[in-house]
Order: sequence, then structure tokens, then C-alpha cells
Amino acid sequence: MLRIGMLTSGGDCQALNAALRGVAKTLYAQCKDPVEIYGFLDGYRGMIYGNYRKLTPLDFKGILTQGGTMLGTSRTPFKYLDEPTPEGLNKVASMKQTYKELQLDGLVMGGGNGSTKTANRLSEEGLNVIALPKTIDNDTWGTDYTFGFDSAIEIATKCIDDIHTTASSHGRVFVIEIMGHKVGWIPLYAGIAGGADVILIPEIPYDIKKVIETIEHRDGTGSRFSIIVAAEGAISKEDAALSKKKYKKKVASRGHSVAYEIAREIGDRTGREIRVAVPGHTQRGGAPCAADRVFATQVGVEAASGILNGEWGFMVADKDRKIVRVPLDIVAGRLKTVDPESQLVKQAKLLGINFGD
Ligand code: F6P
Repeated sequence: MLRIGMLTSGGDCQALNAALRGVAKTLYAQCKDPVEIYGFLDGYRGMIYGNYRKLTPLDFKGILTQGGTMLGTSRTPFKYLDEPTPEGLNKVASMKQTYKELQLDGLVMGGGNGSTKTANRLSEEGLNVIALPKTIDNDTWGTDYTFGFDSAIEIATKCIDDIHTTASSHGRVFVIEIMGHKVGWIPLYAGIAGGADVILIPEIPYDIKKVIETIEHRDGTGSRFSIIVAAEGAISKEDAALSKKKYKKKVASRGHSVAYEIAREIGDRTGREIRVAVPGHTQRGGAPCAADRVFATQVGVEAASGILNGEWGFMVADKDRKIVRVPLDIVAGRLKTVDPESQLVKQAKLLGINFGD
């Protein structure tokens, strides 16, 4: 008998179900022994409180195309892992207890950065764990891509395309705020795909005067509108010089997200009519795109291959478009940011896209 636990942790994203399906289908098809799969509900929380469901092959049918996660998810921040639950439970001990009670051979966890830190901790505590690299943000260390990223780019690009209509009709400047947490992967790719004039990402602090120069240059050369794509974590040069504490305080007192701040500043300095668009969680929603379905399926098959061979303690990853494994302790606690000197950024600049620097 092979007994496997599964959970999805952190923000949902497209193709999580496709990845779980990839694991399960491969195990059911290739394992010589009977397979039992237990799905923990709402992330690590399900493991802490012993909330789970025994899954059957039928549960994995028809989910390849479905967004979200059939197991539910929640955030269990790593920094509070050693703090007891409101009921006084020791989180790590409770998870180990549930794992032991179910006599699991291993755990498959679909999660991003923080969730992988917890997976590594459980691995250090002696549990057999394999992580699947999910997040729209693409900020997971050790893998070129995460599933969800491509689907989010598609949605963000569609948003930029659609905004072009009104921007050009009215001759307006639009600031479109794109998700990505502390990194600029989605805004960078969607900005290029959507023909943005300015792309502002956290890795390249911006000078608002440079942004305005682009708008004025476009005005002077007959373009009636400008599209600024701003990462939700975009930061001005001035703010980047502040201490972390002071910056956090400033953001908290702002009362609105960065796109509104950028729009206000441009409006004040130019007198132009500025509008803001924030696609928000739509970027995590809906069906996964074809590329994510393929990648997540490959990830699932690779995780299952590890399980069948009794190999644990790794995250499945993409390196140069090949599926590889990266030890969990190498991934845990590291962030993959956009390199301002990367080929893509340099090419975007050669094309004339302004990064505000
Ligand atoms: O990590 C995915 C993500 O969508 C980020 O891009 C964003 O900063 C964050 O999650 C939003 O979190 P929540 O869904 O908890 O509001």
C-alpha cells in the first residue's frame, strides 16, 4: 500500500489542479501496490487540524481545465510556524501527528516561496516531502518558471490590450497595476506583450520625472495616449532610499496602492487626465492556459516518479525548459527577482520601453 498526502498552500493559481492530477494519475497508473491519496483541506491548516478527505481516481477527473484548487488553500505564514494556534496546538507537532496517524509514505505540497519554507521544515523534521512550484509571481528560487505564471501573463496582457481602446479614444494616460508581490516578473512579461510605454518594477526603482518624460515625448510625437504598467510592488527611487520600517509606515499611511500614487503624481505635475486600472485577483482566476497545463502535468508526473522511486526532499523545477529536481533546502527562503541586467530588460529598453530609471 502506498499512502500519500496532498495539499495546496498560499495564494491559489491556475493549474494547481492539473499538477495534482498529474501526480495522482501517474501513481494510479504506475504503482504496483494499491494507492491511497488523502487531500488536506485548506493548506497546512488541514494537516494541523486533521481536516482531510480520502480521494479516489474520480476526484481527479475533469479538473485539468479548472482554475483554483480542489483542496482549498490558506496562508500559514512560516514566520508564525512556531507560534501555537489560537487553540494552543503546536503546528509542527500537529502536522507530524496527522502524518503519522494516516501512516503516510509522503506528502506532496503545491506552494510558492513561503509554503516551500514550511515544506523544507517538515522535511528536516523527518517527513517525506515533495514540493510543486506554483505561483503566478514566478518568484520561486531554483526554477525558471512556476505554473500559474503564464496564465497570469495572459490575463494581464488582455487587460493591457483592452485598456488601449479607451486610452487611445480619449487620449488618456493609464496606469495599470499588475500583481507579482515583491517582484516584477508578470508586469515585465505582460508589459512587453501588451506594448506598454513604461514598465515599473520593484527591481528598478523609478524616478517619476523619467516617467513623465516618456509621456511628454509621446505627446510631442503625435501619440495621444500612454500606457504605464506598474508592478504592485513598484517603488520610487526616493522610497527605495528609506529604511524598510519607514517605507512600510509610508505605504500603510498612503491608504491606496502604488498605481494611484503614480497617477496622482503624474496628474499633479502634468495636469493630464490619468486613469488607473487594477485587474487584481482576476490574474489568478479562470482556467489555466495551455502552457501551464502542460508544465503542471509534467511537474506532477515528475513528483510521482520520485514517489515511486522512494525519492523525497525536492521541489520539481524547470531549468532551461527541462524538468529537474532541486533540493528543498536550496529553494527555501530565497526569492527569485528580475535581473535589471537581463537580456529581456535590456531588449525592452532598446525597444524604447522606459523603466523609470
Ligand atoms: O502570490 C500571489 C499573489 O497574488 C501576489 O501577486 C499578491 O501580492 C498576493 O498574492 C495577494 O494576496 P491575497 O490573495 O492574500 O490578497
